[in-house]
Formats: sequence, C-alpha cells, structure tokens
Amino acid sequence: MTHVAVSVDNVSKKFRLYHERNQTLKSAVMRGRTSRHDEFWALKDVTFDVEAGQTYGIIGSNGSGKSTLLKCLAKIYWPTSGTITYNGKMASLLEVGSGFHFELSGRENIFLNGSILGMSKKEITEKFDSIVEFSGVEKFIDQPVKNYSSGMYVRLGFSVAIHVDPDILVVDEVLSVGDEEFQHKSFEKFLDLKRAGKTIILVSHGLDVVADICDRVSWIEKGVLQTSGPARDVVAAYRASSSD
Ligand SMILES: Nc1ncnc2c1ncn2[C@@H]1O[C@H](COP(=O)(O)OP(=O)(O)OP(=O)(O)O)[C@@H](O)[C@H]1O
Ligand SMILES: [Mg+2]
Repeated sequence: MTHVAVSVDNVSKKFRLYHERNQTLKSAVMRGRTSRHDEFWALKDVTFDVEAGQTYGIIGSNGSGKSTLLKCLAKIYWPTSGTITYNGKMASLLEVGSGFHFELSGRENIFLNGSILGMSKKEITEKFDSIVEFSGVEKFIDQPVKNYSSGMYVRLGFSVAIHVDPDILVVDEVLSVGDEEFQHKSFEKFLDLKRAGKTIILVSHGLDVVADICDRVSWIEKGVLQTSGPARDVVAAYRASSSD
C-alpha cells in the first residue's frame, strides 16, 4: 500500500508589491500605515500529493512560482491559504548556500547548518568526514565560505542536506549549479535516496533529467497548476506548449 508523504492542498501565496521608490524613513513615517501596494498571487490553489518513495519534479517557466512553492514546502514561507501536510522528516536545500554564514568556515557551517536541519552534534561529528568528502571541498574546509565559488557552496550545502538522512528532501535547482562531475554525483545520490525509499521533491529546468529521474511531475505556470502526471507525459506537454 502506498501512502502520501507530502500533501499540498489548495495552496495559495500572495505577495505585496510596493511602489514607493527611494523611501526615506521620514516619508515612510509621514505616510503612516497606508502604503500603496499591489497584490500579486505567486501561487493559486495548487493541489497535489507526493507519495512516499516518489521522486517528484516541479517544472515551469521562469517566474512561474516553483521556488515560492518550494519555500512553502520548506516552511520558509507560510501559505496565504491552503495547507501542506508531511509524513516524515523533511530537509531542504533551496538556494546556493542558503543557511550558510559568510564569515564562518566550511567546517563551522557544516555544524551550524547541520543543526538547523535537525542533526545532533554527535551525528554531525560522525558524518563530518563523509559530508566533506562528498562535497569535494576538503582543501578549503577551514576557509570562510565567503571565499567559496558558487559551485563549492552548493556542493557543501547539498552534501549537508543529504546527510541529514531526511525522509523527504526538497531541492531547488541544485543540479544546474554544480559542474558536470558534481551533477553526476548528485544524480547518483538521488538514485541512492530513491532506492532507499526516500521522497524527493525537486525543481529543475533540466527537462531531460526530470524526465529521467522523476516518477511524477507537476507543471505550474503563473502560479497555476497546469497538470500533474507521469514525468515523461508532463515534460512532453510542457515542451509542446513552450515551442508554440
Ligand atoms: N518575496 C517576494 N516578494 C514579492 N514577489 C515575489 C517574492 N518571491 C517571489 N516573488 C514573485 O513570485 C513570482 C514567482 O517567483 P518564483 O521565484 O517562485 O519563480 P520560479 O518559478 O522559481 O522562477 P525561476 O525558474 O526563474 O527560478 C515571480 O513573479 C516573483 O517576482
Ligand atoms: Mg526558482
């Protein structure tokens, strides 16, 4: 019997877009509480279920709301309406080095980020060598991460996230940032996690990879879910629509 790992139920997310430019503190105070803004719905009534053990892809053009959805899934944003329910421990990796502190070394960030993601100090100590090894940044582990390249950042962030041993891993565009060798390694790691029965939700513009490794895919456009279904079918539908 299958069971649902993540259930996204009618999720909407509204942002406010403010228009005042060059605001000064004085003008802001003078205007008081009535600031001018437009409302913008980045997500509208998005509903889908991810079954335990599935690798689930989210696709759609730039600005369609994919990262917003993932931030809701990662509990960084709170949906304006609707609910998300989880069945299992979730870890997320959203942006290049999200959750890293610039001034701290790679080593310190592993401990910091690892504990934010729910690992105990003992657990991190045990997994430390393996985290560093997977990241491939051994030589720079005691350097402040502000001196890392964006690829090195992502490698370290991804390495910490997968070592949390989450039941549910939420990742945004990781595959596109690393070099080919790292993309290959990450891809292999996804397959390992998949074999271990973990649930993975990933956003990617790499449609071939999505069609290859995902079981099911949701395609969103302008915040609205277009379709959810078997990966190859949804990728083909998206490709057909964007070549119009
Ligand atoms: N904090 C915010 N405040 C206001 N608008 C936002 C905010 N975050 C995202 N948006 C808007 O929501 C829309 C969706 O953005 P989002 O980052 O989710 O797109 P995306 O699908 O991830 O795009 P990409 O493929 O370029 O990564 C965009 O129009 C963006 O400008
Ligand atoms: Mg995005």
